[in-house]
Amino acid sequence: MDAIEVIRAKRDGVELTTAQIDWVIDAYTGGGVADEQMSALAMAILLNGMDRREIAAWTQAMIRSGERMDWSALDRPTADKHSTGGVGDKITLPLAPLVAACGAYVPQLSGRGLGHTGGTLDKLESIPGWRASLSNDEMLHVLREAGAVVCAAGSGLAPADKKLYALRDVTGTVESIPLIASSIMSKKIAEGTGSLVLDVKVGSGAFMKTTETARELAETMVALGTDAGVRTVALLTAMDRPLGLAVGNALEVEEAVEVLAGGGPADVVELTLRLAREMLAAAGVSGKDPAKALADGSAMDAWRRMVAAQGGDPDARLPRAAETTTVEAPASGVLTRLDAYAVGLAAWRLGAGRARKEDPVSAGAGVTLHAKPGDTVREGQPLLTLHADEADRFERALEALDGGYAVAPADTGRLPLVIDRVT
Ligand code: URA
Repeated sequence: MDAIEVIRAKRDGVELTTAQIDWVIDAYTGGGVADEQMSALAMAILLNGMDRREIAAWTQAMIRSGERMDWSALDRPTADKHSTGGVGDKITLPLAPLVAACGAYVPQLSGRGLGHTGGTLDKLESIPGWRASLSNDEMLHVLREAGAVVCAAGSGLAPADKKLYALRDVTGTVESIPLIASSIMSKKIAEGTGSLVLDVKVGSGAFMKTTETARELAETMVALGTDAGVRTVALLTAMDRPLGLAVGNALEVEEAVEVLAGGGPADVVELTLRLAREMLAAAGVSGKDPAKALADGSAMDAWRRMVAAQGGDPDARLPRAAETTTVEAPASGVLTRLDAYAVGLAAWRLGAGRARKEDPVSAGAGVTLHAKPGDTVREGQPLLTLHADEADRFERALEALDGGYAVAPADTGRLPLVIDRVT
């Protein structure tokens, strides 16, 4: 077999055989297929698609390229959540300890932000001392200590995906449902969780801009998980506006802690509780009320244990950006639109995100919202506060927000927070 034969087949719209898929992933991981050949194949897949059998074979081959974690020594079921990424999406932070407090273990391998979407590890790293890199033994220790662990995937997990994702990122081949679904699910299946809830975001701030494409991605991922023996469900949730009132690393940790303390913005609380109930049901844990675990402090206790077990100080003061500026409401009326992509881009330009994987992020940078779509505002009242370490970042952030919000005499409606459930 050779790479040219496989590329030509997909280029000409021919289904790849399982043997071809196994060979190409194996050879690419080992260096026998060159990056330029894999780029051509990724583009052919983006243009011509893959059917369910091809996607399943591709996913299994990527899982086999590395180690598969095993939590069968634990005495309780495992559950995880994966979000396809958005703006202000800090849900993992309150959710993981909440589900742990209700009786399931949460072993979550998470990622860093790229572009306008934030990454869970970047958020947690704004806590002084907190460490993202753990060995498998350390993961097990944190799980036993706190019930939940959120850390970086080691280099041994789905190495084929690591290589391929970096390549897709620079060759315009990220936006392919078969490639996104197999990339996400290879890591989640290799992570060894018994059950998985997918939060597939829909809207301007998400990969998937429409409910139809999000549903196709969700159905593909649910089928991959289910076929691999992982109890998998997906929610389609709104990402046309930011989630919560804080966008940016330390700002989002603060908001997550408010939720764990029994407060926090209504949408963050609602989605956290909904996902917690889905995770517990998928894990087969019954008789626990996540709302009670938020109210009685047991979720907060699990959070504190989880942060401390990974070297972080849960009582430390979080970093603050040195400079702020405000954006005011241009008129009185209803805030009908506050675009997730515009706010995410602004936060990125303020320093909260990175342009290249190796770039550092600012812990304190970001955007605070003072109103959400649907709220009544008065002309001149603060709508947003922008936070940055250097004041010269404000100009380009304000440009990103230009046209990203609207105030009108009457509300125009928006996507429901939870749009649909896919099983
Ligand atoms: N996240 C991933 O892990 N892979 C993709 O392809 C897209 C988002």
